[in-house]
Formats: sequence, C-alpha cells, structure tokens
Amino acid sequence: MRNKVSIIGAGNVGASCALWLAQANVADLVLVDIPQAETMPVGKSLDLLQAGPIIGYNSRVVGTANGSYDGTENSDVLIITGGLPRKPGMSREDLVGANQQVITNIIDHALPRSPNAIIIVVTNPLDTMTYLAYQHAKLPKNRIFGQAGILDSARFAAFVAQELDVAIENVHTVVLGGHGDEMVPLTRYSTVFGVPLTEWLPADKLNALVERTRKGGGEIVNLLKTSAYYAPGAALAKMAIAVLNDSKLIVPCSAYLEGEYGLSDICFGVPVKLGANGIEQIIELKLTAEEQAMADRSVGIIRETMKALK
Ligand code: NAI
Ligand code: 2OP
Repeated sequence: MRNKVSIIGAGNVGASCALWLAQANVADLVLVDIPQAETMPVGKSLDLLQAGPIIGYNSRVVGTANGSYDGTENSDVLIITGGLPRKPGMSREDLVGANQQVITNIIDHALPRSPNAIIIVVTNPLDTMTYLAYQHAKLPKNRIFGQAGILDSARFAAFVAQELDVAIENVHTVVLGGHGDEMVPLTRYSTVFGVPLTEWLPADKLNALVERTRKGGGEIVNLLKTSAYYAPGAALAKMAIAVLNDSKLIVPCSAYLEGEYGLSDICFGVPVKLGANGIEQIIELKLTAEEQAMADRSVGIIRETMKALK
C-alpha cells in the first residue's frame, strides 16, 4: 500500500514541504487548510501534481476544499504547518496566543481520522506548540515531535560553507535547544571534513556565524516580510522521509523530555534517532558548563512562553 502524508496548513511552509516531499517519491500527499481558504489547497495540489511529469515524480497530490479533512484518513504522517507566521518586529514567542487554538483544532480534526499517525509540528513558537500538541493529542512521546534543529543546523552549515568556501557536503553542524534566538549551536561537535570548526575559524569569526545562525529566522523575516519557507519545508520533508523509510537518521528535533538532559515536562531540541516508530532514541550528549549555560537560557525562554498556554 502507498504511504500517505497529510499536510495541514497549505501556506508557504506547507506547500514547500509538499514540493520537496513529492520529489522524494515516498508518499501520496493531501493538503488541507481552513474553510476560508476555500479551494486554495485543491489548486496548489493540482499544480504540484502537474509538476510530476516534468520532474519525474509519481507522488499523487490532492487538496481538500473548504477546510475538509476528507481524504486524510489513515495518514502515516501528519505534518502541522497551520498557523500565523511572524512579521518584522515580532518574535516567535509573540505567536503563542494566536497559534495555540490552531494546534488543538488541527489535532481534533486530523488525529481521529489517522489514529496511528506520527505527527510533526512546525508551527511557532515551535517548542511550546509541540508541547501543546503532545499534551492535547495524548500520544506516546515517540509519535509527536517538532521541527527546528534541522533548519537551524542547516543555516549554520550554509554560513560555514560560505565563509570557508568549501562544499556544503564537507560541513556538519549541530544546533540544539529551543527554536529561538537563544538556541544552542554546538561548535565543538560541528566539523568540516571531520575537523572541529574551532580549528578552522578564529573565535571572532566563529562567534559571528553563531550569532547569524541564532538570528537566521529574523534575518529572513526582515528581508521577506514573512518567515522562511523553502528550508523549513525541506527540513520537514527530511523528517517525514526518515520516518517513512525507517532510516534511523540522527537529527535534532524538539522532543518531549522525561529526565533526559536533566529536563522534564518540556519539548526541547535534542538529537534523536528517527525511524518508523518516530523518535526511537534520544541521544544524550555531554555538555560543557558553557554549553549547559546556553541550554539553561534557552529552557528559561521556553518555560516563560509556556506560561501563556491556556
Ligand atoms: P502561511 O501564512 O503562509 O501559512 C499558514 C497556513 O496555515 C495558512 O494557509 C492558513 O490559512 C493555515 N491555517 C491557519 N489556521 C489553520 C487551521 N486551524 N487549520 C488548517 N490550516 C490553518 O505561514 P507559513 O509561512 O507557512 O508558516 C506556518 C507556521 O510555521 C507559522 O507559525 C511559522 O511561524 C512556522 N514556521 C516554523 C518554522 C520552524 O522551523 N519551526 C520555520 C518557518 C515557519
Ligand atoms: C524560522 O526560523 C520563523 O521559525 C521560523 O525561519
């Protein structure tokens, strides 16, 4: 039987994710949006379907009209891309009020139709929305998690490759923590050709790249007047593909923690192994005192944001 992925929220991130996923030929796709979006998901899906013969993919892409979830039944993966993006001057945390109802509404409609699905959240503020989704869906923690670290690590990698004028495939970066300006780039574990970044770049240059990574989302919001979508969509697709192919891929994800990294009752970006069962293992890295202090600051911001959950 063919795999099915439903993408709930057919806006910029949802449609970009669909484009990347369709090309991977791993699943049929269903796009859903709100009733006010009327036939928009149907139109985007038809357009994506018609790119298949050109690019050479065989994924079937359909969209639903007027907010209907008909056709999403028995999805293997549900991707939650619904919700407001930030505008210039806004932080991700400013979205907590508006987006919490979006998360609960989507879960209430999508999960009963796909009770065995793995759920991936992207809506901001990411760690808080993933926590809300986990609490609301009442699924085991391996089946519901959020996308942030793949994107943040990719931004760091792109800046490093640009700075050193090396191929992107030589660069491997690790960014953990919350998806906010206090994220936790781990330069010690980030390498070019296996050699730590600290040996490639002087401290001031490296710090500048770390700071640019931390503010990478905001940099694009200021340029675009809305938030990024190509790279976020690609990061979501990578996670869904790892689940569908049972890849055992180790990537950073926002995961519900129960004692790992000394944290409980929070969703936080940590390295996980992704496979057919979703998060199959949480990998605990040893942090230095300085890295731990960064993680503590990031946790503080998420806990503060979580206070706004109703
Ligand atoms: P967008 O405005 O282009 O699309 C959002 C779509 O969600 C709209 O079409 C809207 O009608 C739909 N929507 C709203 N409420 C819904 C509901 N209850 N059910 C179904 N659909 C609903 O926004 P964009 O750029 O696609 O961003 C989506 C979310 O992803 C935002 O919260 C944004 O901040 C977040 N984001 C997170 C990233 C991450 O790395 N975690 C990266 C980029 C964006
Ligand atoms: C990003 O990092 C806004 O979370 C979004 O691009």
